[in-house]
Amino acid sequence: MTNKELCSAAVDAIKNAYAPYSGYKVGAALLTKSGKVYTGCNIENASYSPTVCAERTAVFKAVSDGERDFLKIAVAGGKNGEIAGEFPPCGVCRQVMSEFCSADFEVLVVKGENSFTEYKLSEILPYSFNPDHLNKV
Ligand code: THU
Repeated sequence: MTNKELCSAAVDAIKNAYAPYSGYKVGAALLTKSGKVYTGCNIENASYSPTVCAERTAVFKAVSDGERDFLKIAVAGGKNGEIAGEFPPCGVCRQVMSEFCSADFEVLVVKGENSFTEYKLSEILPYSFNPDHLNKV
């Protein structure tokens, strides 16, 4: 699975996004160390706060399937599902990633057709609160 293929899977996952309130449709594709790909989309709710992002959908699908070791995630999105620049993961999704992923976990943010920017989790979530901090202070 190349980075480009993972980004294509994220773009493809946009088609299932349920975003009747914001109109922003997002897709994600998570690659496990075992070589599986879990996709996710954002799922909004009339009560707004139960809305879940594409990245967390992908992570939760994987974890509920018994997978916890992840290599990288690709994310793509935009108004009406059209990609017109980077749509980076929100803070809550970064926090969820930090629960299962190491500092060098890669986040590929799609910014256009055939182009993406690669970030390390530690770069987009520095000084994170993670499982290591529990029971240590
Ligand atoms: N959204 C995601 O799916 N991922 C992010 O990391 C940022 C935001 C979704 C949530 C909501 O449905 C819409 O984009 C607008 O915030």
